[in-house]
Amino acid sequence: DQELQNKLKKEAGIKAAQYVKDGMVVGLGTGSTVRYLVDELGRRWQEEGLRFTGVTTSRRTTAQAESYGIKIVDIDDVDHMDLTIDGADEVDKNFNGIKGGGAALLWEKIVATNSRHYIWIVDHSKQVDTIGKFPLPVEVIPFGVGHVIKQFEAKGYKPVLRLDKEGKPVLTDENDYVVDLHLERIDNPEALAADLINTVGVVEHGLFLNMVDEVIVGNEGEPLVLTN
Ligand code: A5P
Repeated sequence: DQELQNKLKKEAGIKAAQYVKDGMVVGLGTGSTVRYLVDELGRRWQEEGLRFTGVTTSRRTTAQAESYGIKIVDIDDVDHMDLTIDGADEVDKNFNGIKGGGAALLWEKIVATNSRHYIWIVDHSKQVDTIGKFPLPVEVIPFGVGHVIKQFEAKGYKPVLRLDKEGKPVLTDENDYVVDLHLERIDNPEALAADLINTVGVVEHGLFLNMVDEVIVGNEGEPLVLTN
């Protein structure tokens, strides 16, 4: 149930916060699991005097971190991230995952790509045998989005433009749209990733293939640490 899931997310977030040391440049992800991480880092900042430099993957995370006084800088003001901690929507045994349920996939992938060490925090419900049940988010430029959707339909990708509660397209932090692909299962994620990134109008997709170094899984009892 929801309450247990939140507890497991929180435990994974608190565990991951222990990886953050004084003086590091730390990439901070986005989502409900990362919220617990940032709460814990905020607590350590205020109560223990922990000091690091943060780079965030969304305006939402910037606002939450700054509310604790955590120092956030622009990604181009640092050389690299020592460590980035983010959530994920699904992860398989080969450390392939889907991200972007919160529409932050583009900044998340840019921050991850420039990080020395990359950790995901998830509850055990995100572990799957085959990724793809979670609809795969694809960030698309608004101009001509209807044509991109038609191309995806022709390929059997089952695209759905993501809408907000008022029925307007969800906008990313880069003012792009998100098209979710209802694939049910992705048997060849590398081939799909190549096809998506080669589609004109697509900015980025939510397949994060073998990028993560460690996955901290919230479980009954202690969180489990999986090393890639
Ligand atoms: C944000 O765009 C996503 O990639 C999140 O990291 C992912 O959706 C996990 O979010 P939750 O921790 O809320 O499940």
